[in-house]
Amino acid sequence: MMRINKYLASCGVASRRTADKLVEAGRVKVNGELIDTPGHMVDEEADQVKFDDKLVWPVSEQTWIALNKPAGYLTSRSDPHHDKIIYHLLRDLTSRVYPVGRLDLDTEGILLLTNDGELAHRLMHPRYEVPKIYQARVKGKVAEQTLKKFPAGIELPEGKIGRAKVKIKSSCASYSDLILTLTEGRKREVKHLCRAVGHPVFKLKRLEFAGITCDRLELGKWRHLTKTEVASLRKMAGPERPELSKVKKGDS
Ligand code: URA
Repeated sequence: MMRINKYLASCGVASRRTADKLVEAGRVKVNGELIDTPGHMVDEEADQVKFDDKLVWPVSEQTWIALNKPAGYLTSRSDPHHDKIIYHLLRDLTSRVYPVGRLDLDTEGILLLTNDGELAHRLMHPRYEVPKIYQARVKGKVAEQTLKKFPAGIELPEGKIGRAKVKIKSSCASYSDLILTLTEGRKREVKHLCRAVGHPVFKLKRLEFAGITCDRLELGKWRHLTKTEVASLRKMAGPERPELSKVKKGDS
């Protein structure tokens, strides 16, 4: 037996967190009955689970891709207010995949997508401290002294963001290019951090996610991850790290 959100994630329908919302929205049926409690348990051997009236089952072959997202594309499945969404760039992909986290509309760079909801969920969880490396062009010349504020943690209205590692790649009088390594994965964290130290971001690119890059991928193109890359994601956040796998109540 397993919780319905975990089951839906293993089917590649959505991350566990989103699956809870799908259940609450009345889009999930078990053995023909609409369910509305995210804690509902299913028997993966015997129960028939439908999402939006289509039968779903756990995927055995998982798809992992890296997209080199251009600025101007929304990280969303559909949005009536945007004519450019990342799925338009994935038209030749046959599997249904969803993003591991998000990049802002104006951010470019590596975005992983998968139907492995379980591992995706872990990679997004701050507990696993998965490194994400960004290059940010910020306003003004950043002083070395300012960099010292980042690892100590910076207080934002949404709470403290800590442990960011930052170095200056280059700078001139009007702007600086910073390389930031973050492990928390909060919404708009790079922009919030840089603004908080007086240097707003005007261009942002994600260079790496969990050690994976899209260095040889043109902007707007995607590729499958190699077996070695998927294995390294599992090593970083898979069940092989039981010491990290116990997610606190309310975290998931
Ligand atoms: N931090 C941001 O501010 N924006 C992104 O798109 C990703 C990280």
